Amino acid sequence: MKYGFFDDGAREYVITRPDTPAPWANYLGSPEYGALISNNAGGYSFAKSGANGRLLRYVFNNFDQPGRYMYIRDNESKDFWSASWQPVGKSLDEYRSECRHGTAYTRMLADYAGIHSEALYYVPLNKSYEVWNLTVRNDSGKARKLTVTGYAEFTNNSNYEQDQVNLQYSLFIGRTYFDKNRVVQQVHGNLADIEKDKPVDNKIVTERFLGLAGNPVSSYCGDKEEFLGRYHTYANPAGVERGDLGNGLSYNENSCGAVSTVIELQPGEEKSIAFIVGMKYSDEAEKIIAGYDDVRKTCEAELSELKEWWHGKFENFQVKTPSAEFNTMINTWNAYNCFMTFIWSRAASFIYCGLRNGYGYRDTVQDIQGVIHLAPEMAVEKIRFMLSAQVDNGGGLPLVKFTHNAGHEDTPDDASYVKETGHPAYRADDALWLFPTVFKYVSETGNLAFIDEVIPFANKDSGTVYEHLKRAINFSMERLGPHGLPAGLYADWNDCLRLGKNGESSFVAFQYYYAMTVIKHFAEYKKDSEYIAFIDRKQAEFGKLLNDLCWNEDRFIRGFTEAGETIGKRDDPEANMWLNPQSWSVISGFASKEQAEKALGSVRKQLNTEYGAVLMDPPYHAHAFEGALAVIYNAGVKENSGIFSQSQGWIILAEALSGHGNAAFTYFLENAPSAQNDKAEVRVLEPYCYGQFTEGKASPHFGRSHVHWLTGTASTVMVGCVEGILGMRPDFGGLRIAPSVPSDWKEFSMEKTFRGKKLKISVENPNGKESGFTEFYVNGEKLSDNYVPESKLTATTEIRLIM
Ligand code: NOJ
Repeated sequence: MKYGFFDDGAREYVITRPDTPAPWANYLGSPEYGALISNNAGGYSFAKSGANGRLLRYVFNNFDQPGRYMYIRDNESKDFWSASWQPVGKSLDEYRSECRHGTAYTRMLADYAGIHSEALYYVPLNKSYEVWNLTVRNDSGKARKLTVTGYAEFTNNSNYEQDQVNLQYSLFIGRTYFDKNRVVQQVHGNLADIEKDKPVDNKIVTERFLGLAGNPVSSYCGDKEEFLGRYHTYANPAGVERGDLGNGLSYNENSCGAVSTVIELQPGEEKSIAFIVGMKYSDEAEKIIAGYDDVRKTCEAELSELKEWWHGKFENFQVKTPSAEFNTMINTWNAYNCFMTFIWSRAASFIYCGLRNGYGYRDTVQDIQGVIHLAPEMAVEKIRFMLSAQVDNGGGLPLVKFTHNAGHEDTPDDASYVKETGHPAYRADDALWLFPTVFKYVSETGNLAFIDEVIPFANKDSGTVYEHLKRAINFSMERLGPHGLPAGLYADWNDCLRLGKNGESSFVAFQYYYAMTVIKHFAEYKKDSEYIAFIDRKQAEFGKLLNDLCWNEDRFIRGFTEAGETIGKRDDPEANMWLNPQSWSVISGFASKEQAEKALGSVRKQLNTEYGAVLMDPPYHAHAFEGALAVIYNAGVKENSGIFSQSQGWIILAEALSGHGNAAFTYFLENAPSAQNDKAEVRVLEPYCYGQFTEGKASPHFGRSHVHWLTGTASTVMVGCVEGILGMRPDFGGLRIAPSVPSDWKEFSMEKTFRGKKLKISVENPNGKESGFTEFYVNGEKLSDNYVPESKLTATTEIRLIM
């Protein structure tokens, strides 16, 4: 079953049936002002922090309410509806609608009772307020008189938890007033006469507003209960039913901002207005609203600016392949998803309520990888930030606060850090993610000077990027378990696998092995031959150990517990096969050809399903060891044998690096949202963004996906596709092009911005190969290697590869 389609030309996903199986969301805004909106206008907004800057309320675990509602009432028939299908929810026999989610804007078109409406929601670029631009057109043959009402439900407190649970306090600090064209809510309004900005018990007056531009206000309401009317719902607010909001205000009640305006339209005539919402003091709000006198023109200009900004980023890498599902993800939706995780981390969605007030070290360092090829200038800023959250011992801070103050932070060695963040200890993998990320950035840009850039450590001192990476190696080297593999510490990538402080993780072992390979590239640049010799020796010793300890006939084991138990052996009754050690044995460059073939084959045989490979198998149920926390989840879910989508990216990459284009692409397709556009009743989640996991074969809801948008999947799949399938593999000196594609792709092309130059790459595959090349041309010159050295780049470089 499908509810919409991809409009690739416009870079929009178009929802044609509004009764989607779940709220299908989009992100608006920036870290200064964030907003989420569903296809039925449900959602919330926050200034700076989802936890502490919440201004529009949303009820989680509910049916997608409240939201940014715009009601339209016909004053003659007294019938009313909403510009989004919900909350009024007119019969779909009479109400036609289309919701177009775009890049940082959402547009909803509706036709009902001879009135066409177009609601455009966005946060203007670099601004910290939101605009709901509504245009109504009279498509009926007679003059119409409409009352249009905008409704925003303010939180009673900017802190989300206080608003939801501490009502004995938060209900008694709010009040609203009306001024010219806006309802203003004051939180702690009683402090207004206290010397400006002088906090009382850390509190000052905060103001939020909902204002109207483009037409005069006919009535207003600042009190939620009065607007809705007791025993009414958002579907039939009393004020909307009456056609007059009654001009009531709140003082110790739940506040809202609601304003109505009367619009008279001759047949064919249209009118555009804008509701504007923000967290600003009233004088600033007045200025903002005044900027929308010419509503249509201003909104259109702002929308173009937004599109230009986002589409400009995407233009840095575009593909044209035989797969529409692949193209739409790589060109627009996976790219956009990567930016969303890069910006919002795991802070705010319809599942993350905003309380995770910081960056998970491993999450963000990985998220960066997804945007390096599109916006290296944004990536490097965040790489600097994450390096500055590395402790001087080389480990990463498990949680990097949004208020991170490099050089002055406490660490997991301090009780204060543990108390504040709830993270009791270092994790084994965090800083090791820096290796692929920093390597990819320097390789993409050729910015070798970055290696010498001095960056502070989180707690004290500073060092060059090279020094940071060396310390990350040291961190693992100094924390080896009894067998000599990296110790499990608090956990590795798998939050639900507690091998114990002295347990040992094979996943981290592969990361560590890979890190040693990568650091040698940096050491070569630094001409640090002594260090190279040292790492060569260590890596060889370590590799032997890894092989002896972890290879188990046709698979790599998952590790050892502190008590010495082996996890992931062939004959274990549960969890005898794990996905990540197999993919990472290949990505790390450790597995021999024979091991790689066997391990990848075992994954295909035991773990793969029609919706992707499960994380491990069989699920934990009766045989979980003490640290196997995954057992707390239902079988087939999340880490307990769910299809943990982030890992899908790694298996795509591993297959592609092994030259298996068909297998790599199969893994892509199985879990790609776009490929399930016509299976919405199974997948449930949005068909244009990734989810954290899909329920595995052990679940009765096999194929259903969860935890939309904010997932490391966005970046791992992007890397799996761009570096793996499409074979874009830059290094310090240039770009290797080594596609690993389905054998039935006869040809495809790519356009890539690389070090300030435009590359136009065409690939021909006349003999149905999965990988490899026979001929390679750069600007017509035939080269013997499929590698473009930087010296051969021209402003527009034409590249032709024949497989
Ligand atoms: C979710 C976390 O955000 C991510 O860091 C972790 O690696 C996965 N869970 C797997 O447990």
